[in-house]
Amino acid sequence: MTQDDLFKKLIAHSKEYGFIFQSSEIYDGLSAVYDYGQLGAELKNNIKKYWWEAMVRLNDNIVGIDSAIFMHPRIWEASGHVGAFNDPLIDNKDSKKRYRADVLLEDHIAKIEEKIDKEVEKGRKKFADNFDETKFKETNPNIIRNQNKIDNIKHRMNEALNSNDLDALKQLILDCEIVCPVSGTRNWTDVRQFNLMFSLQMGSTAEGASTIYLRPETAQGIFVNFLNVQKTGRMKIPFGIAQTGKAFRNEIVARQFIFRMREFEQMEMQFFVRPGEELKWFEQWKQNRMFWHKSLGLGDDNYRFHDHEKLAHYANAATDIEFNFPFGFKEVEGIHSRTDFDLGNHQKYSGKKLQYFDSETGESYVPYVVETSIGVDRMMLLILSAAYHEEQLSDGEQRVVLHIPPVLAPVKLAVLPLLKKDGLPEKAREILNALKCDFYCQYDEKDSIGKRYRRQDAIGTPFCITIDHQTLEDNTVTIRHRDTMEQQRTDISKIHEIINEEVSFKKIFEKLINQSKF
Ligand code: GAP
Repeated sequence: MTQDDLFKKLIAHSKEYGFIFQSSEIYDGLSAVYDYGQLGAELKNNIKKYWWEAMVRLNDNIVGIDSAIFMHPRIWEASGHVGAFNDPLIDNKDSKKRYRADVLLEDHIAKIEEKIDKEVEKGRKKFADNFDETKFKETNPNIIRNQNKIDNIKHRMNEALNSNDLDALKQLILDCEIVCPVSGTRNWTDVRQFNLMFSLQMGSTAEGASTIYLRPETAQGIFVNFLNVQKTGRMKIPFGIAQTGKAFRNEIVARQFIFRMREFEQMEMQFFVRPGEELKWFEQWKQNRMFWHKSLGLGDDNYRFHDHEKLAHYANAATDIEFNFPFGFKEVEGIHSRTDFDLGNHQKYSGKKLQYFDSETGESYVPYVVETSIGVDRMMLLILSAAYHEEQLSDGEQRVVLHIPPVLAPVKLAVLPLLKKDGLPEKAREILNALKCDFYCQYDEKDSIGKRYRRQDAIGTPFCITIDHQTLEDNTVTIRHRDTMEQQRTDISKIHEIINEEVSFKKIFEKLINQSKF
């Protein structure tokens, strides 16, 4: 199965089992907007819980807030979003399709990279055990030529983006002979800047209304509450403020399912530090966040850092944590050292002092900030794409299973009476009632036990508890484990402990506490 096929199957599976639906589907959908179904909402809540508790509960010096989506419009001037939160867009005059100029170029680079990969594969076959990939790449004339092309395009693209030279960006698209994927022509308009913020009118009358924005990031709600939290919480630097919430961006290129949406959710934490200490904290947060990801056990090789060469004007260090999605390594989280840019600007635009008095040094200063910012929806896609597997079983059957980490699985256990008679359903309900206070459970008595196991595999339920005639005699049940499909006979009184061991965050949190160097 190709990665492309896998991705298509994942999208279909997410819909079929109630994880993710296209928004407004009965009206033919709304582009790049999605709804979470009954299992999607559970999974999303568990992801948010994992993040929130790891941030706010495990760190004595981090607190959480919930700021409003609507904010004073001047905030977005101070943050730079009104002036510079733009994407360069270009239209094809024949197809009337709109593209992000930088994405067209990145796709073009990806095609050249594919050529390099093919050349490497040819070399690997030809030289078999004697193949040295590094040497081959350094000496093969086709690879050298293509790598030079890539370097040249990247260099010109970065120069044009950094200097906001839209003509140079268009010239680069023309020089690369990029055609519109729909019309196949090179009939392009000029490149223009497009602001990604959604605006709306606030006020009861047209005359009195003012233009405000749907927030494009949650971070600014933290910055403008910096002093409120610091003072009321008696927080001492270094300390962090965390929040989760919706963000909105009018993305030009919205694609790859829930990877890039127009309405999405973020989990952000701003860590306030002494000026001059920010790079030390940046390194620490890089390690902490990677550890948080890898603790889910989805394969260490699936993660990597991508340090930014081109830094935003307010940042002095930035990196992305990338995950190996079915469409390649892509950003799931950003970690940025944002200096005193945001607090400094809010101080300037609001006219209110946003300084911290450091009793240890006797100085007042505007703190520097290290930010960690992750998309809930992207994290959801990460979990689903790592979890989805089609497995061939020894009895010749096939199963589709979601190996979702048990701590995040939407349904923790299913209670299944073997038969719909002989008092088994009554006993099963008794067990269900005892467990459902602590775990999200499902009860299922329809179809054969095999079919019921498959249904639970397909939604990632880590445990199935089967009640049979023996249960009525000796109070034992069978616990079937999703990943190994092994069955374990155990006393009813042990079920809670066995399940809790796997689905509670405790083990992971203990590791996170030991790893953090606060
Ligand atoms: N406050 C910093 C900030 O917003 P960002 O890199 O623009 O930084 C942070 O966004 C994270 O938010 C990304 O790593 C991604 O996970 C998520 N994100 C951003 N735009 C998104 C979109 N259109 N759809 C889904 N998730 C998005």
